[in-house]
Formats: sequence, structure tokens, C-alpha cells
Amino acid sequence: MKAFNGILYGGDYNPNQWPREIWAEDMRMFKKAHINSATVNVFSWAKIQPAEDRYDFSELDDIIDMLSKENYDIVLATATGALPAWMAAKYPEVERTDYEGRRHKFGQRHNACPNSPVFQKYSKALAGELAKRYGGNPHVKCWHVSNEYGGECYCENCEKAFREWLKKKYKTLDAVNQAWNTEFWGHTLYDWDEIVLPNALGEGIGYDKTAFAGLSIDYRRFNSDGMLENFKAERDAIREYDKETPITTNLMGTYKGLDYFKWAKEMDLVSWDNYPSYNTPWSQVAMCHDLMRGLKDAPFMLMEQTPSQQNWQAYNSLKRPGQMRAQSYQTVAHGADTIQFFQLRRSAGACEKFHGAVIAHVGTENTRVFREVAQLGAELETLGNVVPGSVNEAQVGIIFDWDNYWALEYTSGPSIDLTYVKHIHEYYRYFYDKNIAVNMIPWDADFGKYSLIVAPVLYMVKEGMAQALEAFVENGGTLVLTYMSGIVGQSDNVHLGGYPGPLRKLAGIWAEEIDALAPEQFNEVEMASGETWCCGLVCDLMHLEGAESLGAYKADFYRGMPAVTKNRFGKGQVYYVGTRLEEQGLASVLDMVAADAKVESVVSGGEGLEIVCRRAKEGKLFFVMNFGDKERKLPECFYQQKDLLTGETVSEDTVLKKYDVYIFQMNA
Ligand code: GLA
Ligand code: ZN
Repeated sequence: MKAFNGILYGGDYNPNQWPREIWAEDMRMFKKAHINSATVNVFSWAKIQPAEDRYDFSELDDIIDMLSKENYDIVLATATGALPAWMAAKYPEVERTDYEGRRHKFGQRHNACPNSPVFQKYSKALAGELAKRYGGNPHVKCWHVSNEYGGECYCENCEKAFREWLKKKYKTLDAVNQAWNTEFWGHTLYDWDEIVLPNALGEGIGYDKTAFAGLSIDYRRFNSDGMLENFKAERDAIREYDKETPITTNLMGTYKGLDYFKWAKEMDLVSWDNYPSYNTPWSQVAMCHDLMRGLKDAPFMLMEQTPSQQNWQAYNSLKRPGQMRAQSYQTVAHGADTIQFFQLRRSAGACEKFHGAVIAHVGTENTRVFREVAQLGAELETLGNVVPGSVNEAQVGIIFDWDNYWALEYTSGPSIDLTYVKHIHEYYRYFYDKNIAVNMIPWDADFGKYSLIVAPVLYMVKEGMAQALEAFVENGGTLVLTYMSGIVGQSDNVHLGGYPGPLRKLAGIWAEEIDALAPEQFNEVEMASGETWCCGLVCDLMHLEGAESLGAYKADFYRGMPAVTKNRFGKGQVYYVGTRLEEQGLASVLDMVAADAKVESVVSGGEGLEIVCRRAKEGKLFFVMNFGDKERKLPECFYQQKDLLTGETVSEDTVLKKYDVYIFQMNA
């Protein structure tokens, strides 16, 4: 496979939206900013295929020639993220039908029906045509299929495809009826054609939920698979003409709609778009990076970020001086081998004209943002021989599972506040604060690589999951389980015989009931140490079955019942946290866990700083970043080290202000 030259630095570039005089100016300014790559053709379907029977690559040829002559690495998109108007007019089936049953008209983007035979035919043909034409160009270093796959369609083509998908999965209608528990309300299906997609006109309750979570979860799986088929069709069409160039599509972090672990298996490289808001915790951004790296357990591409501000959030604050740089290094620290922007020149019209870009509306390089981009570009150029291919390593694995994401959020009760990502993040945050490296892993990962597995809200325990976790703990691993775990199987039917179902033996507890607390309600947990922590959301009413109690509820009729437990199992141990603890309380429990599992911070000291390590061939790279408001000093282990970015030798007097970054290369 082709490789990038150093760290790819550039981003979405839409010269087709500008007169030609501007192109030369772009080339001049990109060089000044140390930009070495451009992503083109993302939304150009209407331009390169102006009619059903005609391609017109003349302008794209010119763009690619220009970039090739200037020696840019090109990320070439297949342009299928937005439909051309002629296609929607002639074939209304390419447009999606929404949850309310309305067939959409031409407009918007990321909205082709994944099961439209017309869309399938033309998108695949276009991808093949592009590969035939440009696949041999050595400057084309990466294929970017479509753009940000996502959304849902509830049209008749999708309904038919859903029935076929179900036939493949379940073989018999009896099995479908059983999986969805259709006997409830007498919704028994006697013919495959009676199956209706979960939508507002069918089983829908409010937005997105249905009366039959099993149906909704299967629809999610089906829809994720269907879009993945779209991706694969374009990928395979490209591969017919181009065997050498890696193929990706830009993902969206913890986006709910697609099972990215499944997707990543079909992608050569993972790439993603990082758009935190002004109030997104940095720990959450870090978690998304770790998840994107975890998809293939490999370095990834940052396909998009804004150099300054967004346009589509509620409050599109500017990135403060130094923030974009620090955010970029955080990205690299967590495993990115590219830094790319949306976009290189700011749009003159339509809904993204307020979206930041490398070149602002003023059109000159005399802007704060341009200067910051250029500074980062120069720095990344020097890191180009050091960083790419270096790897992140971790002793801690946190399980992230899209089936669980869907199931937890589709289930009705016990609390609407049981959202998936938030609870995963609460556990992740502890390790982030301590600078303990984490891999975000799928449930079927090789657990043997880890000393600690954390599986927050593992509500759905699918076949094989409990056994894999048991084997891990038996062999000496430490496992953390929480409330809302082990309750249902793959179709949202309860594992009968007491919560947490298949995890009961492992946890050594039985949760007889689950109380739900409203936001204004709380209980407290008194730990054996005497410390008392506030708790809420849900409270498992537990009985010990071999585990020891580490802390008990202080109030209500279940006062004195265990809230946090620890069970020895084989050579390892299982912690079960039966309620949502306040941050400090959870941290004190996880302190015990980390000590038991012998997992350590990347370096000692460094409180308030984010410190991440990537192992390169020539030693470890330590990225030290300050995202806090307080000024901080470096941990002792770095004294007298040389910062790779400035060449400066640091000492006990070195102070990191907000957004300051240091990188050290050490053989430690
Ligand atoms: C997404 C898209 C881009 C652009 C940006 C704006 O990531 O992929 O085309 O719309 O958002 O933030
Ligand atoms: Zn459809």
C-alpha cells in the first residue's frame, strides 16, 4: 500500500467553488502554511457527472494536475456524499423516506437511500470511473469514499431489504417472533411481508423509540450493514483499477448510527472528523480519539477539524490562541498520523460561510488563524520522520459496543438518563485524569493483552461475552462491571434467573431490584474506609453471593445493602459498582481497582496535565499538554529533556500555560 510523506497536513479543498485566479493564490498560500496535502472532490458529483449519460472530468483533471505538479498528496473523494439534482428528479427513489414516512425531495446531503438500486448503480460506477482515471496517479495517496455516512431511511426498498436481512439472520419467522417477543400485544408475524420498519407510523413511540426494542436494534444493525455495503461497493469498484492506494471514509467518533468496529474491518485506514464544542471536556475528545484508534488498534487519520470555529453548533466560539495547536497535538498523541482541516478556503456562500478555514474571507495570510496553521505546519514537518507509525499501548481496555449503545438507549426504563456514551466517558475520565493509557476495545477483543477491563453499562450480554470475561478474570485479570449490566441478550430479551444474568457468577452478587432516582434525588454510599459518596441515577439492590461489600447505601429502605462490591474469581477479581457515584467517589473506587490491577500512569507526577505516550522505533514519544486554566510544571522525569518542538531544554522552572505543548523523546 502507498504511504503518506510524513504527517499529512491539509484538508478539504474546493477550488471548484472558486474562479481560477484564486487557485494560484491558494497554491502559494498552502506552501506558506506547510500544507502538503488536499482532499478534493468531496461534493462534486453534479460537476463530474452533469447528466445521467455523461461524465465531465475536465475541471477535476485540472485540479489534480495542479496539485500533482505542486507535489501535494491528494486525498481523492468519490463525491457520492451528495446526490446530483438530475438523479433525484428522474429517480425519486434515491431520496430517503424519513421516520414519519415522508419521501424527501432533492436537497441536502448524506441522504441517499442505501437500498436504492439506482443509487447503488451510479455510486459504484462513479467510484470505478474515478479510480480508472486517477488511480495510477502517484500523488493520489488515499481514497475518501462518500462523506460521513449516517442517517436512516424508512422507504419501501429499505423495508424489502430489511426483510431479506432478517431472513438471513433468523432463517424462520418463528425465530423473529421470539427475538422480538411479538407475543406481547399480539404482534405475531405470520408472513415475512408483514414486517414493517420501526417508524412513527408503525411501532414508533416518540422519536426513534419503538414498543419493541428488539426490532429497533435489528433495524440499527441492518441500516449499519446496508450503508457498509454501499461503502464496500465503492471500495471494490476502486480496487478493480487501483490496488495500491488505501481506502477510507470519514467517521464521526461516537456517532450512534453505525457499528464502526464492523466498518473498520472493511476499511484500510480509519479516519475521522473531530468537532468538539466549546464545552466538550478534553477527556471526551481524548476518548473519541482512543475509540477511533481502537477500531483497528492502529494509527488513524484526522480527516477534519476546524482551524478556528464551526458554523453548525449552537455557539460557535473561536478556538483561542494556541488551542488548535494543542488540540492537534492531542490528536497526534492519541494516534493520528495526519492533521487535516475542514476546510482550506472559507466558503463565500451557503450554510458553511461562517465555518472556519485556513484562508479566511479576507483572502490573505495576514490572519491569526493562518499564522497558527503555518506554525503548526512547520512543526509537523519536523515531526514527520518521528511520529508516523508509532503506536499507543495500554494495560487498560474499556469496552465500547454499538449493540449496547443501541440497546441501552432503546430500552424503556428504568431511567431516561441512561445514555451510553456519557456513562462510558465517566469511567474513561478517571484514567484520563490519571494519565493512564486506555484502549477502547470491542467486546471480542483479545482481553489477554490487558490487566484491567472496564465494561460500563454492559446492558446487553451477547453469546460468548460472559465466557470471554470469565476466562479473562480467571487468568488473573481485573474487571469492572457497573449497574445496568447483564440484563438482556442480543435481542433485548431478559436473561432470566436474576440480574446481572450471565455476569452474576462473575460478580458474585444478585441485584434483586433496580431503583431509579430522578435528577433531584440522591442516596449515599458509605465505604468501608468511612468515606461517604453521593450516588444517584440507578441503585441496584444487591445481595452478596460470594463477593464482599466495599460500601453500602446509607438511606432509604435499602439502607445497609451493598452498593459497591468486589469478588475474587479464579486468579482475578471483579468489581461491581451498583450505582452512579459522584466523580470523586468513583475515582476512589477506581484507585483501588488500578492498584489491584497494577496499572500505572504513563509517568508519575503531571497532575492537571494530559500526558500521552506513543512508542516509536527510536524510543517513546511523550506528549505533554496543558488543557487546564492553571499553570503547571513538568513532572520530574522530564527535567533536562529537550523539547522536540522548540529544541528548548526544560527544567524544574519550566511552566506550561493553558494550551502549551511539549514533546519529549526518551528511551525510558
Ligand atoms: C462535516 C463534513 C464537512 C463539513 C464539516 C463542517 O464534518 O464532512 O463537509 O460540512 O462537517 O464542520
Ligand atoms: Zn430507503
